Amino acid sequence: MQRAFGLRRGTVALEPHHSEWEIIAQQTITRLHEILQDTAADIQHIGSTAIRGIFAKPIIDIVIGVSDIDALLAKNAVLAENGFLFRGADLPEQYLYVCGGEDFRTHHIHVVIYRSEAWENYISLRDYLNSHPDDAKAYSDLKQSLAERYPADRETYTAMKSDLIHEILCRAGEWRSRRMKALIINCSPVRTGATAEIVRIVSAQLSGSMETETVCIDDYDFAFCKGCRSCHQTAQCVQDDDIPRIMDAFERADIIVCVSPSYWADIPGQFKAFIDRCTPWCNTHTPHRKLSGGKRGYAIALRTGPNLPECARVIGSIEHFYGHLEISCCGHLGLTGVEYKEDVAGHAAEIIGLCREIVQSQEETAACQ
Ligand SMILES: Cc1cc2nc3c(=O)[nH]c(=O)nc-3n(C[C@H](O)[C@H](O)[C@H](O)COP(=O)(O)O)c2cc1C
Repeated sequence: MQRAFGLRRGTVALEPHHSEWEIIAQQTITRLHEILQDTAADIQHIGSTAIRGIFAKPIIDIVIGVSDIDALLAKNAVLAENGFLFRGADLPEQYLYVCGGEDFRTHHIHVVIYRSEAWENYISLRDYLNSHPDDAKAYSDLKQSLAERYPADRETYTAMKSDLIHEILCRAGEWRSRRMKALIINCSPVRTGATAEIVRIVSAQLSGSMETETVCIDDYDFAFCKGCRSCHQTAQCVQDDDIPRIMDAFERADIIVCVSPSYWADIPGQFKAFIDRCTPWCNTHTPHRKLSGGKRGYAIALRTGPNLPECARVIGSIEHFYGHLEISCCGHLGLTGVEYKEDVAGHAAEIIGLCREIVQSQEETAACQ
């Protein structure tokens, strides 16, 4: 059987979109997460094979967002053992790995700083073109005419596309700034466990319709509430740590999705410690700090045991928190029988169902504005 992807190095040959490119990309992303663990803040399928309905070189482009490039470079040996070959700096602050061998390329793996301009451009271009079929067609038509003119000269082919890409990126930037924003929070201290897997699915499901930002409560440094109550008078905490950074992410978001495991039949201690530190924002005291209005909150609880009432307790804790921050409680989901990330696949339909509700209610809100 002929392979649906891969191309001789340096050449240009375009193919119509294959649905299996997405599957291959997701398998590669799963493998990279297994190898890189916490070193990768996020890994995404990008480039033309990630844009539905356009012609593309059959090479899967993936971007890895990292906060520490040196930590990733330290993994070059294990990456090479798994077929990801280091090719050095692509552009300043950007590194390239390839798969497929010397003369044949199946994947380009780009490494950039997470949330840098380069990261945002990759994601913007993909999401904008997937939502704007006319611009996607114009881009695809230009690629086809360039591929006919420069089949053996990939450098010129790439250079000749750059003006149109720049124009599309400008439009994409404007479009993104107008889009709704969703914050999805991993409320577990485990960055790569079952909760993280649910966060990943929710983010992937919502990203077609809105901007998504994912955080893990364990990414931040903050101390316990001291119970001093000075915030009741000042609406400020006496402690100076990462809490305002998390609350900035709340402020940016229109939709907040907290995903929490049950630890001893309630939310994990780290998440509870965060909620205690939100007392300056709690509406039972005057003065208090206020988030801007109209935010919608969703809660997903997961547990290993079989009964749903324990999930209801976790959801209750999250919704109590939302209530005091005046975030409307708009939906929730309880998942049982989940211990490890492999157990999440059996619940994909329920998670996707909640995501559809979120998107639908966002579309209804947008239509009323
Ligand atoms: C400290 C701790 C306490 C837990 N307590 C419960 C519990 O009371 N009830 C339950 O059903 N599962 C409990 N679990 C299992 C977790 O809810 C479950 O494994 C979940 O998938 C963990 O997700 P995570 O690895 O992303 O944190 C507990 C796990 C840990 C680590």
